[in-house]
Amino acid sequence: MKQVQNIALVVAVIFLFGVVFLNVAAPVQDAQASDTAAFYKAKCVACHGQKAEKKFDPALTEEQQIEAIMKGKKVEKPPHMPSYGDKGLTAEQAKALLEHMKQIRGTQ
Ligand code: HEC
Repeated sequence: MKQVQNIALVVAVIFLFGVVFLNVAAPVQDAQASDTAAFYKAKCVACHGQKAEKKFDPALTEEQQIEAIMKGKKVEKPPHMPSYGDKGLTAEQAKALLEHMKQIRGTQ
């Protein structure tokens, strides 16, 4: 009987740990970084526009673009480009966002 209680306790602890850990460790997951289009709409559209027509120079190299997404970019007049690497975005997701921006802008 005691063993059953112990197992139930372990399961409960793992469950609670999972809930807390996932919430803390994945701050961008709520906006679904995996769903590129939705993520762009939720996080980027305000500054870059529906068609990525604002504050986005498609002529920059891919490296510069991804670096801007991951590390942010300071400009003369705020608002600055926030750094999404700090928020848990992966380089792969940044690349997908960049592709999405090029696509909606019609340069691809
Ligand atoms: C608070 C406003 C703001 C938000 C939100 C924002 N950006 Fe930016 N972004 C900027 C500014 C400002 C620049 C720099 C533009 C410049 O150099 O003139 C920039 C630059 C960039 C660049 C480099 C292109 C360039 O011309 O400098 C990319 C790529 C980019 N942003 C993607 C994103 C993505 C993807 C998101 C959402 C995850 C996002 N941005 C959210 C303001 C923002």
